[in-house]
Amino acid sequence: MKTIIEKINKLRKEKNAVILAHNYQRGEIQDIADFVGDSLALSRKAAETKADVIIFCGVHFMAETAKILSPEKTVILPDENAGCPMANMLTRKELIKFKNEHPGALVVAYVNCSAEIKAEADICCTSANAVKVIESLPEDKEILFVPDQSLGAYVREQTGRKVILWNGYCPTHHRFLIKDVENKKKNYPDAPICIHPEATADVLALADFIGSTSQILSYCRESDKKEFVIGTEIGILHTLRKENPGKIFYPLSVLGDCPSMKLTTLEKVLWSLEDLEYEIKLDEQIRLDAEESVRKMVAIG
Ligand code: 13P
Ligand code: SF4
Repeated sequence: MKTIIEKINKLRKEKNAVILAHNYQRGEIQDIADFVGDSLALSRKAAETKADVIIFCGVHFMAETAKILSPEKTVILPDENAGCPMANMLTRKELIKFKNEHPGALVVAYVNCSAEIKAEADICCTSANAVKVIESLPEDKEILFVPDQSLGAYVREQTGRKVILWNGYCPTHHRFLIKDVENKKKNYPDAPICIHPEATADVLALADFIGSTSQILSYCRESDKKEFVIGTEIGILHTLRKENPGKIFYPLSVLGDCPSMKLTTLEKVLWSLEDLEYEIKLDEQIRLDAEESVRKMVAIG
């Protein structure tokens, strides 16, 4: 009898499918993926792949971004309930009202948002390139940053630009507290504290390194240190430990778990390849408008 991984391997070949996985996915999903990365790298892969089918192991907005960039491909999210709560904290109606309240302002949408929000935005960004994206905009312009207040506040501080925030946030990253950092600093004084910019400003102020998931991976790979404290979703510990067998990684808090990211299992990947479900479908005008904002971001790198 074939194992589940053998069945996945047979089907991915037959259907010319590529499996993309975010750094927060379960270890067994990361291990079978063709490519594992952060939101920015995954968008790039989705745009350049020659596969007919993209099995997107991540959350809904990530699969939607892949569809925005590759409309001719079949993009599949293995669990239709894998949504990002932050992305659901801003509707198109709310964004239009926000824009009307700030005429002339430019809208920067963190990719953790729906296609409708991307379509209304001037440009998108990820946590890996948010500072560069803001710096690419004319200096005299007000910027509406949506939906993440924490990443928005971080880029405002880094760039000194006039950035007005929407009040969305990531429930997972907002679970990190000052006392978590203080405890870890006491217990592991030599370990740099690496934190994702979705954490709150008081916690970020205590970090030794702030970056996207892939930037945290590169930092830990290149550092001479032997121990690290990781302040982002705990799925990333799998890659960190795999890539750095001689180093030790401690989660900043074991509460740093994203339930949506954990919905994808090997069984669901297999079923998604068998049935080509759940397919991402987009209204073509929304897709075209969203594509403009995403492509501008991808070009900035
Ligand atoms: P990255 O863009 O760093 O991969 O993060 C995506 C995300 O959802 C963070 O919570
Ligand atoms: Fe959304 Fe936070 Fe989960 Fe990332 S970790 S997908 S921002 S809820």
